[in-house]
Amino acid sequence: MDQKIIVRGGRRLKGRVRVNGAKNAALAILCGATLAGENVVLDNVPNITDVQHIIQVLSFLGARVVWWREDAVTISVPSLTVREAPYDLVKKLRASNLLLGPLLARCGEVRIPLPGGCNIGARPMDLHFKGLSALGAELSLEKGYICAKAKRLRGAQVYLDFPSVGATENIMMAACLAEGQTLIQNAAKEPEVVDLANFLNSLGARIFGAGTDVIRIEGVKELGRPVHYSVIPDRIEAGTLMVAAVATRGEVEIEGVIPRHIQPLTAKLREMGAQIVEGEDVFYIKAPDELRPVNVKTMPYPGFPTDMQSQVMALLSTVPGTSLIVENIYENRFQVAQELRRMGAQIKVEGRVAVVEGVPRLYGAQVRATDLRAGAALVIAGLMAEGETEVVGAEVIYRGYKDFEKRLARLGADLAAANGQEQFFALGEKSDPGRRNIPTYRE
Ligand code: EPZ
Repeated sequence: MDQKIIVRGGRRLKGRVRVNGAKNAALAILCGATLAGENVVLDNVPNITDVQHIIQVLSFLGARVVWWREDAVTISVPSLTVREAPYDLVKKLRASNLLLGPLLARCGEVRIPLPGGCNIGARPMDLHFKGLSALGAELSLEKGYICAKAKRLRGAQVYLDFPSVGATENIMMAACLAEGQTLIQNAAKEPEVVDLANFLNSLGARIFGAGTDVIRIEGVKELGRPVHYSVIPDRIEAGTLMVAAVATRGEVEIEGVIPRHIQPLTAKLREMGAQIVEGEDVFYIKAPDELRPVNVKTMPYPGFPTDMQSQVMALLSTVPGTSLIVENIYENRFQVAQELRRMGAQIKVEGRVAVVEGVPRLYGAQVRATDLRAGAALVIAGLMAEGETEVVGAEVIYRGYKDFEKRLARLGADLAAANGQEQFFALGEKSDPGRRNIPTYRE
């Protein structure tokens, strides 16, 4: 059902907000939990649709996953009754491909539908296959399924042509139960990779060097230590809220963050002129009315995160002057540009380069969220725009942001969510007859 977020622009965001657990760490850790038997307790797990989907896949395979708190689950996988993940569930969530490594290591055999490309790029899995084959897996594609078999995986040296997050995570999980030592060279260094490694080590794995470009794994016979693990905060959710604060020229405190995880963005926002004070686990952000244009190049961590590119494009669309954005990770991640142009932005896209000419203001319009981060970017654009913006296809936003509009409303934004039947979910304030009878959120 097509969900919408209706945004009325022009308010400065003010106040304090806490960040949820990291989607991309929680997804990998939930897949990694299939390597262990029982007694895994995870907290700071974001209750978002992507996490709900991976839990559906895990339950189908035989795991018992129970939410015991709004942001915490217990998982036990005494045995995996099924070795094949169903297409209907997997097609909803690309990250199901992170089950390949752990299920292969634990069961010696697995069939997973080959995830197709998505809106932002082709996203092949050649590096995953290359790494798992090096560990001795036989991989084939049959009727759209990846079929992987291995009596016992053997440690190996794997050089990744590109520091792929997913390939690093899949190979690392498989290597935990392989015979001997595995080296992953040119590994991804993202904080989510490190969080997965820390979780696996707490289960009894022997992983060294996560967060550097060489990860060494000494295989063990089994993983099964009882564990109570807390997922890291979501640096991309934190970054999205930081950009929203600066875009509305607001003043916001963001709590429960790990500042160094989002340093490339902090540096860019400071370059634009935002005042950012970092505490141990909190950011204080204040933005002047006048901001400066900047150039951005997305890179693997610790470079500028591609998952923040769309949101920063929206911000730069009203910063006077010329900004340049180069997208080095995905070949098709500028779709938000055409939606921003509908709001009056001046953005030229040439392949992986976008040239943003700042305009004095954006105007409300009906726009479509083509992917998760583009959706968040359009809500931010709506917060800056004159008049009302209707972001349709908003269900993609809930894949990665829990209660997105409610949290922005707590910071003073004027917005509402609606499902396809125009039923508005409202908290508090009486509606104004001049408006479309869209009550706004107030706690
Ligand atoms: C993870 O995706 C994140 N998803 C993505 O976040 C994020 O954009 C990406 O890392 C990069 O930071 C999860 O963690 C669930 P990659 P992943 O493998 O693992 C190419 C979001 O918005 N590649 O590092 O799929 C690939 O096509 C999402 O939260 C190959 O060519 O990313 C892409 O261009 C979107 N062959 C690039 O590498 C391979 O075998 C980066 O992919 C693997 C990847």
